[in-house]
Amino acid sequence: ALVSPAPADLDGLHVAVSTGGTREPLDPVRFLGNRSSGRQGAEIAVEAARRGAAVTLVAASVDAGVLDAAAAHPRITIRHVETAAELGEAMSDAAAAAEVVIMVAAVADYRAARVSDHKLRKEDGPLETIELVPNDDILARLAAARRDGQTVVGFAAETADDDLLGRARRKRERKGVDLLVVNEVGWDAGFGSGENAVAVIGEGGTVVAEAAGAKSAVARAVWDAIVATRSAH
Ligand code: CTP
Ligand code: CA
Repeated sequence: ALVSPAPADLDGLHVAVSTGGTREPLDPVRFLGNRSSGRQGAEIAVEAARRGAAVTLVAASVDAGVLDAAAAHPRITIRHVETAAELGEAMSDAAAAAEVVIMVAAVADYRAARVSDHKLRKEDGPLETIELVPNDDILARLAAARRDGQTVVGFAAETADDDLLGRARRKRERKGVDLLVVNEVGWDAGFGSGENAVAVIGEGGTVVAEAAGAKSAVARAVWDAIVATRSAH
């Protein structure tokens, strides 16, 4: 097969990427989690490294094998985390030295208000409800702390409805990010699969790029959009 050489347009750039799904513990053996495979974030990291960047990949729970290519790349450092709080800390550390910060991880919106230090047993009494408390919005915090020359990018997996783009535009404003990459209407090949379809929303709600296909191809298009946005500023 023909493999086109990667452009070196990210040479010398430092990049922080999060991927996977956070796990919020209930007790030592149970957690609240989600179905994120981590594949799209891993592809974003590998594509950045291919194009010359030094990458910190903060990885929450991912499917088997998803981090193999990233782990083998000399310019990628992987930091493993479990909870949203740990992911937030690791991303703050990584963002301090990064010109581009990308949150691809599926971060739990809530965690358990209390975590049992022993395995919850039925004989301890019925457990019919779990009290939850909201997690901090890591992306909004990273965007609010943005330095000059830093680009902050979010991802949003939205289920299809007729106002998907409108909601994505409002989400981009709310988060205060430069770019929001959104999974488009009905194109929910998304979780687990090797394919994805996205729109990239920029300043003023403009759709600056669309891409569909392998998650590696989507990663290339996302980086092209980031490079274009950075050179326009
Ligand atoms: N995100 C984050 N911290 C959170 C929740 C989400 O940093 N506590 C980031 C995700 O990594 C993603 C972006 O925010 O890059 C959008 O996530 P999404 O779940 O779509 O946003 P929410 O604000 O949680 O909105 P929703 O109510 O639709 O879940
Ligand atoms: Ca959410």
